[in-house]
Amino acid sequence: MAGRRILLTGGAGYIGSHTFLALAEAGHDVVILDNFVNARRSVVDRLAQIVGRPVEAIDADVRDAEALEAAFRKGGFEAVVHFAALKAVSESVEKPLDYFDVNIGGLMTLLRVMEAHDCRRLVFSSSATVYGVPDETPTPETADFRAMNPYGHTKIMGEQILNWLSASDPRWAIGALRYFNPAGAHGSAMIGEDPRDIPNNLFPFIAKVATGELSRIRVFGNDYDTPDGTGVRDYIHVEDLARGHALSLDKLFESGEGHLVNLGTGRGYSVLEVIAAYKRASNRDLPFDIVDRRPGDVPIYVASAGKAAEVLGFRTERTLDEMCASSWAWISGPHSEGTE
Ligand code: UFG
Repeated sequence: MAGRRILLTGGAGYIGSHTFLALAEAGHDVVILDNFVNARRSVVDRLAQIVGRPVEAIDADVRDAEALEAAFRKGGFEAVVHFAALKAVSESVEKPLDYFDVNIGGLMTLLRVMEAHDCRRLVFSSSATVYGVPDETPTPETADFRAMNPYGHTKIMGEQILNWLSASDPRWAIGALRYFNPAGAHGSAMIGEDPRDIPNNLFPFIAKVATGELSRIRVFGNDYDTPDGTGVRDYIHVEDLARGHALSLDKLFESGEGHLVNLGTGRGYSVLEVIAAYKRASNRDLPFDIVDRRPGDVPIYVASAGKAAEVLGFRTERTLDEMCASSWAWISGPHSEGTE
């Protein structure tokens, strides 16, 4: 497929930066737009080093209509891959207006500018969180929407806005991708997840215990109805997830129609299994304590992965061991910066 001009909002973030590389590898010409609230500026230089040419990055907020307008006027984009959003569940409970403002306000601003520039191809970052506590595991895309917190609700609202938009005007072709739990880092060990604060998520937390930056892992509950009592998640290697975006874009251009798919492996691992795998990969001691359940946690999230295979030809290639090994190579290497 011929290279396309793509705008990648949030392209300096964890999933965004890996997606930049997947799109560049697929031959696309990609411009990043990021406000760097949750990403480091040095990511852009590191991406340039990996691809061996300069990378264009616009420093702007996705709610800034004038900046988007200027980017589109100059860029001539044929499609947008939209990551720019806030994503911390507990913060969304404390600051719901920020979440609606950035995640919904940002989406609305973007859609208006896209429409004005006759650009109607969009890949949207959604999340398994839209399923709340699902009735069925593995969870198919047909499962009901259930919001558990403002963050989850912004993803549901985003999908609904996009559904009504495509229903009103068939020129729109939108791919909504519901991510399960991304983990791991790029094979170059030059980019990866690099949270500025103490991480909320399991993988980056374990990584920082492995480096010694944090002392002990807290396992949130071992009394769930799961094989070892700890929470089970469908971890997906971030490079596999990134490739899913390239396939989604190809499909939008090929078919002119939208799609909605889960991106996961279809297989779950418990917290204790992840700790054991990370221990093997890092050869470090990973002390943990079993503590109370974390409020709002779901016992099991596993994707039904069949639809993504059927619609996009998407199949994950990398194992949990590869997620741990690449995470460790990144976090113990020279390019991650640690908690600031
Ligand atoms: N966990 C721990 N200790 C920690 C962190 C997590 O035991 O320090 C456990 C959790 O209880 C859960 C599992 O590890 O069982 C995974 O937790 P994460 O915080 O890594 O991920 P979540 O599944 O809770 O949430 C993530 C994203 C959400 C997204 C969701 C979709 O943070 O934004 O995946 O599956 F909605």
